[in-house]
Amino acid sequence: GFSCTIPHKEVALKCMDEIDPIAKKIAAINNIVRRPDGTLTAYNTDYIGAISAIEDGLRGSNGANPAGGSPLAGKLFVVLGAGGAGKSLAYGAKQKGARIVVANRTFERAKELADKVGGQAMTLNEVNDFHPEEGMVLANTTSVGMKPNIDATPISKEALKHYTLVFDAIYTPKDTRLLREAKECGAIIVYGTEMLIRQGFEQYKNFTGLQAPEELFRELMSRHA
Ligand SMILES: NC(=O)c1ccc[n+]([C@@H]2O[C@H](COP(=O)([O-])OP(=O)(O)OC[C@H]3O[C@@H](n4cnc5c(N)ncnc54)[C@H](OP(=O)(O)O)[C@@H]3O)[C@@H](O)[C@H]2O)c1
Repeated sequence: GFSCTIPHKEVALKCMDEIDPIAKKIAAINNIVRRPDGTLTAYNTDYIGAISAIEDGLRGSNGANPAGGSPLAGKLFVVLGAGGAGKSLAYGAKQKGARIVVANRTFERAKELADKVGGQAMTLNEVNDFHPEEGMVLANTTSVGMKPNIDATPISKEALKHYTLVFDAIYTPKDTRLLREAKECGAIIVYGTEMLIRQGFEQYKNFTGLQAPEELFRELMSRHA
């Protein structure tokens, strides 16, 4: 099989024989497995990588969930952005029982995604004044703050104090302004590099049927990011 990235994640769907049900809902794939009979099965491992990193971040702060369920269940989960990564995070968090809010520069795209996950939509400008409750989870999937515009951030520092955990999908740079400010506000932070590496673990498993050599992956990643 093979991996598939921007700009092929959506169009490649048309060439598949079988598509994982969540990948079908997200309408984007990044991992294609070629079976011995030549048929192609597609997965989206982006959402698994990001959501498992966020769950582990929350578990680290609260201890293990005694009921064994996801620590995202019942949380208000605010997704900034409605592109490929935004869809992965919104569907992934919804699947874990979170309540979803999508905030995007282009409101129509936020609305379309929010409607699909039974959530609320708003523009990116509105998110600074949105704090209906404390302890929310924030996931930035916009490219705001990505190299070379490293001084940009998608949300004010003031607004970050209402969030328990802040995740940034951006991994260039690893330490974005958003994550630095979230840390200063006392939030748990989850790096985009964690999503990147964990989605790779899933691809390895799909390709080989074996667990990924996680330490080796981490060592290789530390040399490059
Ligand atoms: N860590 C990982 O493994 C991983 C995996 C995938 C992606 N990513 C990262 O996630 C980010 C988004 O990737 P993607 O594939 O989702 O891209 P995409 O499909 O092109 O979506 C880009 C999103 O960013 C928003 N945006 C772009 N420029 C903006 C600006 N100047 N102000 C406000 N919003 C802006 C877009 O809003 P509009 O709808 O208004 O255009 C859209 O919601 C990138 O930084 C990428 O590197 C990380």
